Amino acid sequence: MEYRNLGRTGLKVSALCLGTMTMGWTSSKEDSFAVLDAFVEAGGNFVDTADVYSSWAEGNPGGVAETWIGEWLAHRDIPRHQLVIATKVRGRMWDGPNGEGLSRSHIMKAVEDSLRRLNTDYVDLYQTHWPDEETPLDETLRALDDLVRQGKVRYLGASNHPAWLLTKTLWVSDELGLARYDCLQPHYSLVHRAEFERELMALCQDQGLGVIPYSPLGGGFLTGKYRKGESPPEKSRGASSGNVQRHMTDRNFAVVEKLEEIGKAHNATVAQVAIAWLLANSVITSPIIGANTTTQLDATMGALSAQLTDEDKAVLDEMSAWE
Ligand SMILES: NC(=O)c1ccc[n+]([C@@H]2O[C@H](COP(=O)([O-])OP(=O)(O)OC[C@H]3O[C@@H](n4cnc5c(N)ncnc54)[C@H](OP(=O)(O)O)[C@@H]3O)[C@@H](O)[C@H]2O)c1
Repeated sequence: MEYRNLGRTGLKVSALCLGTMTMGWTSSKEDSFAVLDAFVEAGGNFVDTADVYSSWAEGNPGGVAETWIGEWLAHRDIPRHQLVIATKVRGRMWDGPNGEGLSRSHIMKAVEDSLRRLNTDYVDLYQTHWPDEETPLDETLRALDDLVRQGKVRYLGASNHPAWLLTKTLWVSDELGLARYDCLQPHYSLVHRAEFERELMALCQDQGLGVIPYSPLGGGFLTGKYRKGESPPEKSRGASSGNVQRHMTDRNFAVVEKLEEIGKAHNATVAQVAIAWLLANSVITSPIIGANTTTQLDATMGALSAQLTDEDKAVLDEMSAWE
């Protein structure tokens, strides 16, 4: 495993981060624990979750992924300090007007709930899941800074923030002498490029922010399991999720065919080549990969050894270009 600094910080994280949105949604507890074990065994130290995971799944009230990570930690002989646990705040977690958002009121209760579920007394990376237009930035940033000073949170990150707002938060933190966001979690992959590349990429490079892209396989599209003109495999995310189905265009299927071709030349899977394309970009710290089973995890983990040639990269850049 390769380890990288999270942006300009001294924190070393594995070059692949394990996402846990599947836990209690499309992955059983047994499979989730096996995936966590296999990830750590392969040298992974970076795990991403959120308080709300995965409240959209039937029978899942939210908080399940954090709870399972906490239970897994309690039953393994892994010292807490060997892991970098990232979680998020913003989504609705309880009833009432303050049950969601980025107010001081919501954050202060939400962090205690996350710590309890995760069975830990600190979160390594605490991320705002998406912006809250109804709370002043300085209120959110002061509350987050208090958590850093109290030792409950070590680093701060933002997810799903547009460039103008992220720039403004960095400016406000600087003005007020507060801990700043050191990491961005954007939606970014070969089939979803413009949102990150338009302005956020240059901002992260310039400001030394770590970048941990989510859905780096397009929710499974970039594994090659969806075939043009065929129905999605039963039980796959693409069988029900519009987020995957919207990738199923002729242009994107051509990208998958190219990934297959490049994969054959490098003895790598489609998923590994898709992740290798992200890792070839120096602004990227750790793509957050998702896996329901250890078989799926294995098919992605080798991405670090799949070195793309300049020509491979140039062809993929051109085929998936958004301009
Ligand atoms: N900040 C945010 O707003 C946000 C949003 C989304 C995700 N995230 C984070 O990012 C993480 C990753 O997101 P993601 O799950 O969308 O990532 P992804 O890596 O693009 O997709 C993962 C999904 O692809 C399928 N898959 C993976 N490997 C496969 C293989 N070898 N063969 C066949 N199918 C395979 C599985 O779905 P099926 O088997 O069910 O088809 C798996 O759940 C999440 O867990 C979460 O931590 C954050």
